[in-house]
Amino acid sequence: MLRSHTCGELRITDVSETVTLCGWVQRRRDLGSMSFVDLRDRYGITQLSFNEDFDGDLLEKARSVSREFVISVTGKVTERSNKNPNLPTGDIELVVEKLDILNPSLTPPFTIEDDTDGGEEIRLKYRYLDIRRTPVKDKLVTRHETNKAVRDYLNNAGFIEVETPYLIKSTPEGARDFVVPSRLNENQFYALPQSPQTFKQLLMVSGLDRYYQIVKCFRDEDFRSDRQPEFTQIDCEMTFVERQDVLSTFEEMIRGVFTSVINHDLGEIPVMTYADAIRNYGSDKPDLRFGMRFNYMEDVAKGKGFGIFDNSESVIGITVSGGNQLTRKQIDAITNYVKRPQIGAKGLIYCRVNEDGSYKSSVDKFFDQDALKQWAEVCEANAGDIIFVLSGDLNSTQKQMNELRLHLGDLMELRNPNEFKACWVVDFPLLEWDEETNRYHAMHHPFTSPILEDLDLINSDPGAIRANAYDMAINGMEIGGGSIRIHDKGLQQKMFDLLGFTPDEAREQFGFLMNAFEYGAPPHGGIAFGFDRLCAILSGTDSIRDVIAFPKNNMGRDIMIDAPAEINEHQRRELSL
Ligand code: AMO
Repeated sequence: MLRSHTCGELRITDVSETVTLCGWVQRRRDLGSMSFVDLRDRYGITQLSFNEDFDGDLLEKARSVSREFVISVTGKVTERSNKNPNLPTGDIELVVEKLDILNPSLTPPFTIEDDTDGGEEIRLKYRYLDIRRTPVKDKLVTRHETNKAVRDYLNNAGFIEVETPYLIKSTPEGARDFVVPSRLNENQFYALPQSPQTFKQLLMVSGLDRYYQIVKCFRDEDFRSDRQPEFTQIDCEMTFVERQDVLSTFEEMIRGVFTSVINHDLGEIPVMTYADAIRNYGSDKPDLRFGMRFNYMEDVAKGKGFGIFDNSESVIGITVSGGNQLTRKQIDAITNYVKRPQIGAKGLIYCRVNEDGSYKSSVDKFFDQDALKQWAEVCEANAGDIIFVLSGDLNSTQKQMNELRLHLGDLMELRNPNEFKACWVVDFPLLEWDEETNRYHAMHHPFTSPILEDLDLINSDPGAIRANAYDMAINGMEIGGGSIRIHDKGLQQKMFDLLGFTPDEAREQFGFLMNAFEYGAPPHGGIAFGFDRLCAILSGTDSIRDVIAFPKNNMGRDIMIDAPAEINEHQRRELSL
């Protein structure tokens, strides 16, 4: 080893020891006949002191090092006269006797400190330098610890990790595929997996019983802060299980991960139906860190001569506790927020509940104090609160209200990144009507089992069939999703029919799975968690980019290695492109 200790290790108990440290120069300060250097490595920072007592050359050499030089120093651990209580090593310094410059450095394009002056793009271009910064590095450490906690749990629970191929045929997760041309098979393409879904089901047919894989998945989707084109799943599947078995197994895993990584007890994870989640929060991944549940106000809002409400299918109100303190200007800004085209509300009505119990609404002309009192009762609003109301068709109003609720949660600082509220959402609809193609799509994927008692609806009202599918959401982010699968060939065929696949199309795309199901497919089900999203939540960030060592930017580019890039003519010809 080139060093005896790391830069985060030395304490007052090590005083008078002679040690050798290696690391990067974070900062140098020259004071008269002395120089101080903060030496950094993954483990921390140790102050080095150089003085001319040793020999003039040493001080001169020390003064030739600048930021990010890699150096090795040997010296004596000494108690500091002015201690730094903010550093674990702040009680000591190393009085250097020998300095080796292992490698000089150009001046970095941004400062490598906790608070940097570098913008996002430049930091992505020099990601290896950004990772030297503690807040960035710490997230990779958290990711590693999360990975370890997941593996420990699954290994102990009898799951075995199996790798599945990356060069495959299109998978049915509903995003666009990334494709790879095959040189040996002219004009043919592999698709990169959107998930290992079909393979893990085949492994259940193989009798492996409990499978997991921490695995890269690829989806050519539009950018969002919780999406990357390549991301990692904790992908799992189990045989001879029902929904509750899957929920219990993975609730225990997630709770265990929270305890071991951030020492937080998530508590029992509540189960909510999809219908309730939409009705109460307008979202299938509700953020339960705060209330503001939806209140349906049609009975108290319609029929009072206010045309906008009278002509609306639904009128939904939410109460912001203590919201009467919002100023007129703030309310105008909130109104503008919901009127943005991405949200699309036509306007926003409010009703203040004053401290004296009187009401002041933006529609006082139509609603007297008695009528507003009824609003307050329906919305459970008390003195000091404010009610916000949106109206329109049910579906759009719920969606708009969800956006408003989250916005108000941010504004009132109710979305604390150090607080965690998880929930399961179950009984998703099996099918989703697609206006563009005029047919049903599988909401999850085509192998998801319907809830069997809903099967009678298959001809009369297929849109009402519920799926035996579940998602886990934490703090309003979808962390995982899965389902009990269809293991019966006849039912799978029926499902393909519903989804508008002809038998030939189904055979062409999924024949291998249909065949496998003829050889004793056991009942099975599983789930996949978004590993990057889980790590983001555990690290208190809402962008998964922060927890990926080398992420893509919002155009799907890796600007450090400059990919994607063109290929040369020779390669193109070989690939028949
Ligand atoms: P699903 O498509 O719901 O299910 O994906 C599972 C989880 O993966 C995460 N995720 C993503 N994370 C980052 N970037 C993306 N582009 C991205 N897309 C999805 C989410 C999501 O909950 N095969 C099924 C699982 C199953 O049925 O067992 C599947 O992939 O956190």
